[in-house]
Amino acid sequence: MTRYRAAGDEDAEVIASLHREAFSASDRGYGGEAELVAMLSADSDLVFSHVAEEDGAIVGHVALSPMRAEGDGNRIRALGLGPVGVSPNRQGRGIGSALIEAAHGWAREQGWQMIFLLGDPAYYARFGYLAETAAPFASPYAGPYWQALILDERFALPKSGRADYARAFAALEDE
Ligand SMILES: CC(C)(COP(=O)(O)OP(=O)(O)OC[C@H]1O[C@@H](n2cnc3c(N)ncnc32)[C@H](O)[C@@H]1OP(=O)(O)O)[C@@H](O)C(=O)NCCC(=O)NCCS
Repeated sequence: MTRYRAAGDEDAEVIASLHREAFSASDRGYGGEAELVAMLSADSDLVFSHVAEEDGAIVGHVALSPMRAEGDGNRIRALGLGPVGVSPNRQGRGIGSALIEAAHGWAREQGWQMIFLLGDPAYYARFGYLAETAAPFASPYAGPYWQALILDERFALPKSGRADYARAFAALEDE
């Protein structure tokens, strides 16, 4: 059985190993995601950090951090999703999806309006992330992998804006 719970300080080392393993085994390769989580935490930017556990072992992790975002001159309450990683031998069983849905549930409850991410559209489209939603927002990551999800149905997409990740992301190699 897979259990989902908030991560604690005591999980930091295992979470770091998990991201090293998950990203090293992936097509994109390891890009410093373990260090990113540690830096987000040190900066108090790790507002949501959730793990999947099986038989007492952590097999998945997802993080959310606040972004600096504005649209048509108004501040937007936006989060950045990532990193998200699942142990290579546990992938393809819905763990990544469950972690991402847990992140969305928390963010909606807390009144966040949007979530941005940089990732493969072939994976993230299933959760409602669209490049079109992120397109009005200037970013160093603009392009087909730059996607966003609107959490608040009353929120109208602005004509133009800007969205910047928490500062820890600047140190990430591939992002
Ligand atoms: C991406 C990741 C978190 C997904 O976790 P998971 O537990 O395997 O995800 P789920 O079981 O919920 O979903 C699996 C589905 O996603 C698909 N998928 C996974 N990675 C994908 C990708 N990069 N592009 C397209 N589809 C992808 C699988 O083919 C599978 O498809 P199916 O449902 O049609 O069978 C995991 O593969 C991982 O840790 N990858 C390495 C790290 C990484 O790339 N993280 C994301 C960075 S943006």
